Formats: sequence, C-alpha cells, structure tokens
Amino acid sequence: MKNVKKFKDLTDLSAFAAKQIISVGKRAIKKNDRFTLVLAGGSTPKLLYQLLKTDEYKKQLDWQKVIFFLGDERDVSPMSDQSNFRMISENLLEALKIPNSNILRWNTEIIKAEEVAENYEKTIKRFFGLQNGEFPQFDMVLLGMGDDGHTASLFPATPALHETKRIAVNNWVEKYDANRLTLTYPAINNAGNILFLVSGEEKAEAVREVLKGASNFEKFPSQKIKPVKGKLLWLIDKGASSEL
Ligand code: 6PG
Repeated sequence: MKNVKKFKDLTDLSAFAAKQIISVGKRAIKKNDRFTLVLAGGSTPKLLYQLLKTDEYKKQLDWQKVIFFLGDERDVSPMSDQSNFRMISENLLEALKIPNSNILRWNTEIIKAEEVAENYEKTIKRFFGLQNGEFPQFDMVLLGMGDDGHTASLFPATPALHETKRIAVNNWVEKYDANRLTLTYPAINNAGNILFLVSGEEKAEAVREVLKGASNFEKFPSQKIKPVKGKLLWLIDKGASSEL
C-alpha cells in the first residue's frame, strides 16, 4: 500500500517519524521561517517526543522556529495527568525550552468546553490571519488512532464527524461520558503533511478496516483523514499491521 510504512516495533517507527518531522520542519523553516506542527496526544507518540529532545535530534532543527499546536485535548486542567498538553510538555516542550508564545494549546482553564473550542479557534484564526470560512494550513499534523478507529477526538458516531465549517470544536463522547476538544476534519485535511503513528496488536482490526475496509467513517473516523492537497503517511508497527 502506497502511503503505508510498516516497522518491526514502536522504536523503529518513532525513529522514522522523528526523521520525517525534522525533514518537513527544515523545509518549512527554509520556506516560511517557521514550522507549524500539530502534536498528537495519547501514549503512542511519547517515545517519539522523547527522541526529539535527545541531542541527536535536538540539534537538527531550529526548534525556536516551531509553532506547536495540539490536535485534541481532554476537558481537564493542563496540570491533570489526563492532559495531552501536560504529556507533551513533560516529554518534549520543557526540555526544548520552547517559549510559551510558540505553544498554542487548548485553554482548558476556561470552564465551558464550548468556550475552550471557540477560544482555540480564535487563536488559530488569529495566528494564520484567516477570514471566516478559511482553514489553517498546518505544515504537519501528527495523529494517533484508537482501537475503535478514532483519531484526535473524532470518535465514532459523534457530532464532530459532520462538522464542515468549524476549525475546532467541543465533541461530546457518550462512551466516555465526557467532552473532548478536537480539530475538525477540514482543519486537519488542509495540512501539508499528515502522519499517523499506530502501534499495537489491539489496533490491527481497526487498521484493516480503516485502510482496506468498506467506506464507513461514522464507524471508523480515521477513514475520513484525506489531505486536500497534502501528503498522508501511515506509520504502523508489526502488531498493528498484523491484519493487513
Ligand atoms: C488522545 C489522542 C487520541 C490518541 C488515540 C490513540 O487524546 O488520546 O489524541 O486520539 O491519539 O486515542 O491513543 P494511544 O496512542 O494512547 O493508543
């Protein structure tokens, strides 16, 4: 399959992802003097983030020219152990000494989840200088995938799957009885590069359904990640690709 690369384990997958990020980042900085990078939450990218802050990778990119965004966030304080921002800070941002002005996160200190989403959308519009109806063009978006085929916080059978106008929304997720904050399909699909990182046997069935199954994004939301003009690459380890 053309845009799928398989790896023997998460370590090799993460090393390849790190090289991809450096390569796209260098090109973006050369072209625009900045690299707009959307990071994924969850556990899979932790090893990648830990790699990027090692001397080997740290020295390969001008990290002070990287603008960091988050693809999704839980409706929790940034200090919560459930917070994607906290995981990303602890595993990457703090070590790289990224200035707060270059970290554009979901402001979950705001009480109402809808207002957090509106606030993030305003932040993104202001940063990219967008008019109403326009979408950001992130240089790169990192995504994970759950064993139910969700990505970011675009979960099966949730309202956000049908959002075509907004950039960032609050998405009620019944199965977690919780709000989840997420970028929308149009915001993600307008990116220059989209990189999926998927690891683990428990995701093999969802990977097969998303990549080879009948079209059904309501059931397998990752199916609808299709860049308008950019590149999509799936990085999958042995366990997650065992049903391909
Ligand atoms: C989150 C993520 C989510 C994640 C998948 C995979 O907020 O949890 O953004 O979309 O990428 O659930 O999670 P794991 O990497 O932990 O398997």
